[in-house]
Amino acid sequence: YRRLRVALLGAGAVGSQVASLLRKHGDELADRAGAHLELIGIAVRDPDAPRDADLPRELLTTAPEPLIVGADIVIELMGGIEPARTYLLQAINSGADVVTANKALLATHGPEIFEAADQVGAQVYYEAAAAGAIPIIRPLRDSLAGDRVQRIMGIVNGTTNYILDRMDSEGAEFADVLADAQRLGYAEADPTADVEGYDAAQKAAILASLAFHTSVPLEAVHREGITGIDKAMMDAARHAGYVIKLLAVCERLPGRGDRPESISVRVYPALVRRDHPLASVHGANNAVFVQAEAAGNLMFYGAGAGGVQTASAVLGDVVSAARRHLAGGVGVGESNRANLPILPIANVTTRY
Ligand code: NDP
Ligand code: HSE
Repeated sequence: YRRLRVALLGAGAVGSQVASLLRKHGDELADRAGAHLELIGIAVRDPDAPRDADLPRELLTTAPEPLIVGADIVIELMGGIEPARTYLLQAINSGADVVTANKALLATHGPEIFEAADQVGAQVYYEAAAAGAIPIIRPLRDSLAGDRVQRIMGIVNGTTNYILDRMDSEGAEFADVLADAQRLGYAEADPTADVEGYDAAQKAAILASLAFHTSVPLEAVHREGITGIDKAMMDAARHAGYVIKLLAVCERLPGRGDRPESISVRVYPALVRRDHPLASVHGANNAVFVQAEAAGNLMFYGAGAGGVQTASAVLGDVVSAARRHLAGGVGVGESNRANLPILPIANVTTRY
């Protein structure tokens, strides 16, 4: 097999699992990708920090630039806006395809990154940026490209679902379960992103942009988190036959009279009836319902957070990137343009 050089930026909850699976299943992945995926280096902040025993420590570096310019595929799993943005743009401009799980970056700088990639014929893969291990980016971007999505509704943050679920089922305290979610690798580096709904809002902006073929700015997403939810509210909801879930809702609103069609994107804690399928989404799982004009109702369900689960989605992207690379830069789902405004939507409204 030909050798493709893979640079990994970040070896935290997700990155360490990506490195581990690349090593464990290297031969199988080479068969699927048609190329040997050689990990050439792993950029971290502190090379002396405690790491998983099977992480190849000899590959750790605090100097990402040389790795980036020498790579065919760059996997960004550092999180945050900078320096992740700069590194991704460097990777694109040096001819690499990039894989990222960074929804904070894509929700704020997606158009800039996709445009940079389009200009040099590179591809940005980001299946892990929404709903962890669940395939939802490709279904919206590719499989449903011939349909007209009307509505997306679901649970897209694992940490808050884990917290609300344990508050509901065990009467657990918010602070204790948040600490568990951090220990289990579900939470963002700054968990405010999870509990205040920023992470879900970023994912909602990404999903709505794909579903409605437009560019939904993060500021247009109505956002409420779960920090105001206490035990008394959980109890009251339970006694009334409901459970509280943090929902993301993205929908197309029909035009009326002079008012053109618009879209609404919002994230908020909602009362969900206990017999609704979303009430049965436990732990750090996510579920996304998609309603499309021709396809009808589709449901996507599975692990929404967690290092190894998310690594599955990242590695799927790496295999796709490798196949495309070998095909000379063309391949399934190769257009970043699906993320640019191609269907003018007059206004983005929020409604709740
Ligand atoms: P972590 O905080 O666990 O890991 C981040 C890694 O990036 C660490 O290894 C850290 O180095 C490294 N890093 C951070 N900043 C720099 C820098 N400036 N230079 C070099 N290395 C740096 O994050 P996660 O693995 O949890 O998340 C990674 C990405 O994946 C994020 O974008 C997150 O939103 C996304 N994601 C996470 C999921 C999850 O379940 N955890 C699920 C889906 C997406 P060091 O180890 O030395 O501190
Ligand atoms: N912190 C995120 C969550 C990780 O809990 O859903 C997955 O994107």
